[in-house]
Amino acid sequence: MMRILILGSGGRECTFAWKLAQELPKENIFITPGNAGTAVYGTNLNLSILDFEAIGKFCTENSIDTLLPGGEDSLVAGIQNYFESNENLKHIYVFGPDKIGAMLEGSKDFAKKFMAKHGIPTAKYQSFIKGQEKEAKAFLKTMNPPYVIKADGLAAGKGVVIPETLAEAENWVVDMLVNEQFGQASSTIVIEEFLTGIEVSFFAITDGKDYLLMPEAKDYKRIGEKDTGPNTGGMGAVSPVSFVDETFKNKVIEQVVKPTMSGLKKEAINYRGFVFFGLINVEGNPFVIEYNCRMGDPETEVVLPRLKNSLSEIINKAKNGTFSEIVPKLDERYCTTVMLVAGGYPGDYEKGKTIEIGTVTNSIVFHAGTKMNDGILQSNGGRVIAVSSFGETMNEALDKSYSSIKNINFEGMNYRKDIGRDLL
Ligand code: AMP
Ligand code: GLY
Repeated sequence: MMRILILGSGGRECTFAWKLAQELPKENIFITPGNAGTAVYGTNLNLSILDFEAIGKFCTENSIDTLLPGGEDSLVAGIQNYFESNENLKHIYVFGPDKIGAMLEGSKDFAKKFMAKHGIPTAKYQSFIKGQEKEAKAFLKTMNPPYVIKADGLAAGKGVVIPETLAEAENWVVDMLVNEQFGQASSTIVIEEFLTGIEVSFFAITDGKDYLLMPEAKDYKRIGEKDTGPNTGGMGAVSPVSFVDETFKNKVIEQVVKPTMSGLKKEAINYRGFVFFGLINVEGNPFVIEYNCRMGDPETEVVLPRLKNSLSEIINKAKNGTFSEIVPKLDERYCTTVMLVAGGYPGDYEKGKTIEIGTVTNSIVFHAGTKMNDGILQSNGGRVIAVSSFGETMNEALDKSYSSIKNINFEGMNYRKDIGRDLL
């Protein structure tokens, strides 16, 4: 039976552990570093997700056969290649893409070139490197405001700026390329056309040959109600998304998902795991805003509960070449999640606040930034707990999440009261 190590410590990883705990004995599930919630479903470790040597050593000493990286960092740093190229580790299946595949997320320039090459709809763009500030400014003059400027590399979700004026945009070019605002990540920048529309995310699971389409989701990124204030990791999510009808879904499959999958094959990229398609619906047509090489957080907290198939079986079938046999089974109900965050987040916030959780029967409580300290449950991050619920309608699911929240409390607790409201 599978023995799996999950890398990460957020609500996403808690959801993976929750799902796998329905399929595997607790003794077979490990999470590093995990949180107070993952400790209920498996064993937390204190290995850094970037210490591949320590992870490899733990895996061999504890007969781990599967590694599930939750976030992008270890994938972009090449954990799949590290395991595959090591004689003692190559029998361990890393359910995530290799270093090149992970560049779909790790390099915006790489992702744009990939999309251009494979005819995948995306905003018009040009890339510039340090020394090309003049060219970048000249390109800005050919565009209409607002301007979209992106640091090429990973910048902890902060590497995209959307200035309204040409002067501000020109300053950003200098800040990123010359002043290295985002360090190495902005030594290349992508300037692209601003697209107007509503965002939605699609997800696929793949073994590198075939794929399963998972339910779509909408994430609420801003801290404030009605999408105001600074960006966060995500304040809530809903699935399914009301404006995604059969016509739009078919366009996504034909114009985005299939060409992405065949592009990965054509380029012989060793891709397995999840593909996250960050899309924008422009007058009924999907455009790719970004790829991620992993599941979303908090999207996982609404997508994975709707997947009725066994996750360990999906991963095993990807490993042994029988992935194409899988018949996807999805829960038709709505699932919603509301993220409870620390006061001050996404700015400065305090950790170590005692969390009280009463009886919650109508929702699933996924821990994110939590830890146990001497038997006391405490906050340990900006995003603290995700409260997910099912309903026959989105309203019913949201009502359950919001009424469950009444039984959860910590000092400074904040959450958006309007998750899903724009879609009702
Ligand atoms: P990204 O990190 O590429 O997902 O960008 C972060 C956010 O910036 C997205 O979720 C969008 O809200 C916005 N964004 C990125 N690219 C564009 C674009 N071309 N047009 C409009 N909004 C964009
Ligand atoms: N919630 C957005 C992300 O995971 O990238």
